[in-house]
Amino acid sequence: MPAWSDDKRDDPQPCRDADQGKFETIVRDGRARIGRIHTQHGVLETPALLPVINPNIRTIEPREMWDRYGIQGLITNSYIIWKHDDLKQHAVTKGVHDLLNFPGVVMTDSGTFQSYMYGDVEVGVEEIVEFQRLIGVDIATMLDVFSRPDMTEEEAKKAVQATIDRSQASLDSAQGVMLNGPIQGGIYRQLRKTSAEGMGCFDFSIHPIGGIVPIMEQHRYKDLVKIMLATIGELPPERPRHMFGCGHPMLFAMLIALGADLFDSAAYALFARDDRLLSPQGTYRIRDLKEWPELVPCVVNYTPETVRELGKEERTKLLSRYNLEVTLAELSRCKQAVHEGTIWQLAEQRSHQHPALREAFLWLTTRPFPTGLSSDVLDDLILDDRSAARELHPSGGIWEDDWSKIVAMQTPRRKKGERWGGEDTRSRPHILAARKQLQKRWRPRSSEPTDVLILNGKPGPWRQRCDLLVLRLAHAAPDLEVLVQTPLGLIPYSLEDLNPFAQVDGPTWLWKRRLNTLLLREELHRMNLEADRILILDIGQESLLQAASNLLVKHGLLEEPIHVDDTQLPQLRDALRRRQILDKLVVLSNLTYENAALLVHSCSFVIGGTGRVKNVIDKDGKHILSPRLTDGGLSITDLGAKAMHQQRSTVASGTDEKDASSWTGKGLPQLVVEEDAVEFILRGRNVFHGFISSCDPWLKAGQTCLILSKKGKLIGHGISRCDANEATRFKKGIAVRTRSDFSKSFE
Ligand code: GUN
Repeated sequence: MPAWSDDKRDDPQPCRDADQGKFETIVRDGRARIGRIHTQHGVLETPALLPVINPNIRTIEPREMWDRYGIQGLITNSYIIWKHDDLKQHAVTKGVHDLLNFPGVVMTDSGTFQSYMYGDVEVGVEEIVEFQRLIGVDIATMLDVFSRPDMTEEEAKKAVQATIDRSQASLDSAQGVMLNGPIQGGIYRQLRKTSAEGMGCFDFSIHPIGGIVPIMEQHRYKDLVKIMLATIGELPPERPRHMFGCGHPMLFAMLIALGADLFDSAAYALFARDDRLLSPQGTYRIRDLKEWPELVPCVVNYTPETVRELGKEERTKLLSRYNLEVTLAELSRCKQAVHEGTIWQLAEQRSHQHPALREAFLWLTTRPFPTGLSSDVLDDLILDDRSAARELHPSGGIWEDDWSKIVAMQTPRRKKGERWGGEDTRSRPHILAARKQLQKRWRPRSSEPTDVLILNGKPGPWRQRCDLLVLRLAHAAPDLEVLVQTPLGLIPYSLEDLNPFAQVDGPTWLWKRRLNTLLLREELHRMNLEADRILILDIGQESLLQAASNLLVKHGLLEEPIHVDDTQLPQLRDALRRRQILDKLVVLSNLTYENAALLVHSCSFVIGGTGRVKNVIDKDGKHILSPRLTDGGLSITDLGAKAMHQQRSTVASGTDEKDASSWTGKGLPQLVVEEDAVEFILRGRNVFHGFISSCDPWLKAGQTCLILSKKGKLIGHGISRCDANEATRFKKGIAVRTRSDFSKSFE
């Protein structure tokens, strides 16, 4: 075995006293997040795997984990230390960090798992927490009551209640040491919710999801994701969520996407002892291997065959390293995916590695159709691989609410194209969020049944191919609504450059699918458009105007072919541009059509070299908006923010306004900050958590918001990094990246 290099990593710096136990998020992708937990033994960046160290059997030395693998935190068992006199003596006199020879964050468990495995433990609820405090752990765990998946609802309820009942005494014994408050509840949705709500009321630092080890051992991944779905939304968002006993890399992407921040597992060592190898593709046995599924540094000088010939102890050590390196590599991949906003895409890829994981993924992401088409009709129409899963899904089931919370946390738009990955692509939560935003806010010009023309057959940008046609149609058939068929669904022509719809990266046949008018009608209905006649124009044809003209005449929308009269073209082009800005203000900035029209009506445009609107100028000659080329969004200037603020009659309404349907059209979300932050924000500094007094409930991460003083004065605008639920709850980190500088621009 190659000698372990002598490189030493410096010991960590303790956090500032004021930051002790705080969790901040740095980057997020829906419910997934990159975060930092601040402790006296340094920062623990999440998502993180805390390797389990058995203080009696140290397969890989904790010091090596720190120095060689960059592990910032680990977990060990305080009950084992408490039970063994020599370990106990060492830990009590010199501390747990010295016992383990580990300078980073030490979390300890409490003996609950031992009680599940071997029956009752003889330690008391307060006693074990006091002991953890005494030996200097960074994050202790209370003695919760394990809920097994085979428990009846009544039994699981008792475990939930007993754990809640023990909470205050445990916190009192912790005396300020960070404490884990585990969530129990077996496989019962309501019990998981009760547990999360109940435990969330106490002052715990972290919430582990407990009772899931047997569920993972039995590959019941659907139950696992149901537990996540039921639990996470009920927990205080500013507390990290830990998956107790979960360390299989195959599960990381999906669990992180569902909101997991911490993992712990002895799997790297336990599987090695069994001659098994972990990998994001599943588990392998060394006896079956000719090559390494992942070529990680510790095995570059070995083949599986030479490892098979090693003695048991040496083989176990090497395979433990292998498992740890592979696990860390997958975690790193997941973190990168969160940075890129593609964690659901990674979860989608990983779901193919195990049938039970695929089942869980499809159960999560396949929704039953919301309205009236009969399943016979659908069977004939939908031939994709999701139709079976759709049928199995409990229609309109109790899980819709939990799932829609995940969708609601997504930032709909990305700065780059959407990679097509098969039918799963359409169910990516941020795509669903983009569709929902469109369906909730966009309105056709008329609420009466309207004739619709759908442009189909070619990928965008559509403006180059179709602008002239659309302008001429606006002249010849002014009541016609023109939409574009994208692989992610229909969009109005006015939003033809909007990400993600306009920027799908996939094979060209995606745009050439045969469309079905029944399904189109259904989709149009969800976009508030009651279609009269639906015509589909293949825009791959040579003479587009003639083809469109023939189609409209054939279906009786026009009496005679279009006669080209381009004298009106400048006015029509101006009207189309106004419509584009109007629709963007409504869909992206949440304005009503009336308010958007007030802004746009008297504006003029600066046109760029390609004929697109570069800047929107108000009637006083001031630049207020710019459409963005990258994602089809709108950037607002300081003066634009001021104009939108003037349209609002009320100050931020607070998160108690629960009825989401009443938020549509209320404008950009506002966030009110404490007085001592005002002067900094006026000068363009970011808004920090801890300085927010209230915000509108429709505030979302990744979207523009207005920043107000408590007196209701506009002091800035920026891009929020949190949603309304998180804005006032987090106590550390950036809440809004300010994009304004009001120190000079106006009073
Ligand atoms: N380790 C694995 N599962 C559990 C659990 O439910 N509670 C505690 N305390 N430790 C665990």
